[in-house]
Amino acid sequence: MASPLPAPPPPPGSLAIQPLFPVALGQVQLRPDPLDLAVQIQALHAFRGPAQSNPDPGCAWTGDLNGVWQLHRHPTFAPLAAEVAAQARAYLAQLGFTPGVCALHLQRCWPVLSEPGQVVGRHHHPNAHLSAVYYLTGDGTGRCGVLRFWPQRQLNELVPGMAVGHQAPLAAVPGSGAGWLAGSADVAPRAGLLVLFPAALEHAVLPNDDPDALRCSISFDFVLTAPPLPDGQTPPEYLAPHPSQWTAITEDGEPQA
Ligand SMILES: [Fe+2]
Repeated sequence: MASPLPAPPPPPGSLAIQPLFPVALGQVQLRPDPLDLAVQIQALHAFRGPAQSNPDPGCAWTGDLNGVWQLHRHPTFAPLAAEVAAQARAYLAQLGFTPGVCALHLQRCWPVLSEPGQVVGRHHHPNAHLSAVYYLTGDGTGRCGVLRFWPQRQLNELVPGMAVGHQAPLAAVPGSGAGWLAGSADVAPRAGLLVLFPAALEHAVLPNDDPDALRCSISFDFVLTAPPLPDGQTPPEYLAPHPSQWTAITEDGEPQA
């Protein structure tokens, strides 16, 4: 689907560069009740138990690797999950998704607890389409560990590595503009902040540099499918059919009723 370019033509004789193809990073500051936050953090401590890492001491403890992957079905977190799901709907609407075309599924929901010095390595979520993270702690400074995103490709380098290689020749050009060459973008956690982004976008959590604070967040993975359709109607080829219309196959190769 092609769209008209947003900028008007530049004046004759002048070179204008405009940004193309932005990544849709959604942010909304929710207003959690302080008592609810305290109860949720207490519950996350209980889920983690005596464990402190994943299990490498430098890696944050994450629920998805430790049996805590359905927080959205837990009474303490279900209202939050519903609020996040509503924001995911709003994100899709702002991107231009036609209402009713897709079914939205909350597939997985897990906590991430990062002790001082701990990180979450660079990764993306290939099992999902839309990801979100909600912060239970953080003061907006980033001291407890920013969420860092990377672009899939750095096309503006023209030659791969020019912005980071020996003497970084692109960065050395006066006025080249960090915006055209930015290799990453950071979001600083703040209690109540919700961030939404494409699940394919590479990201990581940088070290928690606050020696006195535990960094607490909850991750969400959403999947888009076709809505459930009556017999005789066909889902579009670019969407998986609704899971209720799938057939599971047993280990013996038999379709399950
Ligand atoms: Fe992630």
